Amino acid sequence: MLEQQADRVMALGEWEERWQQNKIGFHQPEVHKMLKKNIDKALNGRTGVRFFFPLCGKAVDMKWLADMGHSVVGVEISEKAIRQFFEENNMMYTEEPVPAIPGAKVYKNSEKNISLYQCNLYNFSNSIEGQFGAIWDRASLVAVNPGDREKYAALIISLMANDCRYLLDTLLYNHDLYQGPPFFVPGEQVHSLFGEYYEK
Ligand SMILES: C[S@@+](CC[C@H](N)C(=O)[O-])C[C@H]1O[C@@H](n2cnc3c(N)ncnc32)[C@H](O)[C@@H]1O
Repeated sequence: MLEQQADRVMALGEWEERWQQNKIGFHQPEVHKMLKKNIDKALNGRTGVRFFFPLCGKAVDMKWLADMGHSVVGVEISEKAIRQFFEENNMMYTEEPVPAIPGAKVYKNSEKNISLYQCNLYNFSNSIEGQFGAIWDRASLVAVNPGDREKYAALIISLMANDCRYLLDTLLYNHDLYQGPPFFVPGEQVHSLFGEYYEK
């Protein structure tokens, strides 16, 4: 792990505060170009794929995939982000508690097959929604506190079905000049976290 960022911690409350204050520079109004570029690799010829979005925010990528007939499950701590996702995309949604995760709620649009869980990611598991055929990790691994990366990777791997494709977006920058998030996750660490699942 990089010494410079090893002890950096963003508390859940800080993320929620960012949403309340609209400090969401990470949000992109257009479908992410890396997802578009690599969608064929992620689908691998499959239709109706179940996608998982860790730390989903209000990513418009979720609607893009749902419009193509895939289903989406996301996890996000900010209720505001989840409500904004449905409202900004003109989707009706229902809201219900999740008995298996105290304090959590799930927001759903059944027509488009999108379910967004409002909870701490580390309270989510494969007992809630099973495993997934694809995972789109954009601004998620790089947003996780550096000390939690092993725990994060173990959870992500546990959510992978046998035929799962994991599409991961990371970025390179001079970590002496910026503290993150997004944090700097070097390729070697991605390799050690995801081992056999890794393909450059
Ligand atoms: C950098 S943003 C990325 C959002 C989204 N993936 C995107 O591309 O726009 C990280 C998101 O994760 C949420 N978050 C951070 N830690 C979390 C946790 N432990 N559990 C659930 N959500 C979390 C934050 O509220 C924030 O919306």
